[in-house]
Amino acid sequence: KKSEFGLIGLGVMGKSLTLNLANHGVEVLAYNRQAEGEEHIVPQFLSENSDKPNLRATNQLKEFISELEIPRKIMLMVNAGAAVDAVIEDLLPSLDPGDIIIDGGNSHYHDTKRRNDYLKEKGIHFVGCGVSGGEEGALKGPSMMPGGDKEAYEKIAPYLERIAARDKNDEGCCTYIGREGAGHFVKMVHNGIEYAEMQLIAETYAMLRTAGMPIDQMAELFEDWNQGDLKSYLLEITADLLTVKDGDEYLIDLIYDAAGQKGTGGWSTTAALDVGVPFSTISESVMARCLSAQKPLRIRASRLYGERPVIERDLQTLIPKIKQAYQSARVINHAIGFEMIKKTSEENNWGINLSQLARIWTNGCIIRSSLMEELVSSFKASPEEHMLLAPSFVDLLKGSRKELTEAVSEGLQMFLSLPVYAAALNYLNGFTNEQSSANIIQAQRDYFGAHTFQRKDKPLSKYFHSQWTNK
Ligand code: 6PG
Repeated sequence: KKSEFGLIGLGVMGKSLTLNLANHGVEVLAYNRQAEGEEHIVPQFLSENSDKPNLRATNQLKEFISELEIPRKIMLMVNAGAAVDAVIEDLLPSLDPGDIIIDGGNSHYHDTKRRNDYLKEKGIHFVGCGVSGGEEGALKGPSMMPGGDKEAYEKIAPYLERIAARDKNDEGCCTYIGREGAGHFVKMVHNGIEYAEMQLIAETYAMLRTAGMPIDQMAELFEDWNQGDLKSYLLEITADLLTVKDGDEYLIDLIYDAAGQKGTGGWSTTAALDVGVPFSTISESVMARCLSAQKPLRIRASRLYGERPVIERDLQTLIPKIKQAYQSARVINHAIGFEMIKKTSEENNWGINLSQLARIWTNGCIIRSSLMEELVSSFKASPEEHMLLAPSFVDLLKGSRKELTEAVSEGLQMFLSLPVYAAALNYLNGFTNEQSSANIIQAQRDYFGAHTFQRKDKPLSKYFHSQWTNK
């Protein structure tokens, strides 16, 4: 009997998704190439899972292709980039029109559009599907963001929706996102939001640590915050990881403080620049990782610039301030991420439904949180509106603006680097000031380059140039 669903690439995510499919009763066939160093993968996977009659695996591509039901449904879980193109080329000669390829990696959405167009010419359907949730999510239920051919998606929906995480109404955390690379696009912005959320927690840690809070108390504090409105997966794991020791020391104190990154945060920043959407919390989180990675330089600089000032902070007054600051910075970061999605969707005519998107991000994915639950209804009520114009968020930010400002300024006085907190606050200030200072920018542009400007006292359709110099 042929298998209903094929999966290529038995890396961490591929293995977990294959098992997830098998655990949901899908007849699944996995393939991993027989490359040097990878010979053991298929036999080992088979022996570990010999109890699952509906799961098969092979290292022979021919067998893989001939053993799949038609139309073939093949999910790729290989490294983003050249490997995806290489696998597609390997598959193409043996595929039949109507077959469906699903790319479940963190591919760039421009690549996904290109592959979509290329495969369409050959009669092959292509679905670029963002998958979030790491190893555990992939195994127990990830959040899935499929985009591309709608028609092809309908054919694979029963599989993806079955293995996805469940939302609070027991619906699958999987929904069709939009044409072309829309699925991978939202996964990329998801990762951007993820970067900034991670950095906000890191900055919170830095403020509390510098103000003298011991690690074990911080773990308790984060766990406590995680019981209320601030509940999120990232806060939960941080509370947990702060408890881990290696001998007498906290493991966190032994970890070399240079952050890695695989690109999605930076891609989302470039994409935001392309559409001209303010993206500061996210772009700053990428830059913070870049700066952290310059550790040797930072060591030298820290010796030259000396110690930070020792300022006594009363933790009891600082903690509630930071808590409110954290809550408001998160709201602003989400507003920035979703605004980027809305603008890009409009530009490409993707018709992305922000409420549905928030819904599939309420479980399975890395940025799941109570805030995300709130966004489902908030975007449903006003899908066109900027998130920060929703009355509930206006109230929240008005109520915590003072605390956000004080937390940032106190942190800066301790010489801490708080780029994402500061970006959130600056965004809020810029966003809510009717009068910006851009009149000066326009005047300067016109002064040196005759770039012209509009006037408040004249119709905006008219552009003016002035002979500026009084010299
Ligand atoms: C997820 C994660 C996952 C991964 C990213 C970010 O949603 O499951 O976002 O896809 O962690 O690739 O990785 P980097 O931090 O290495 O860029």
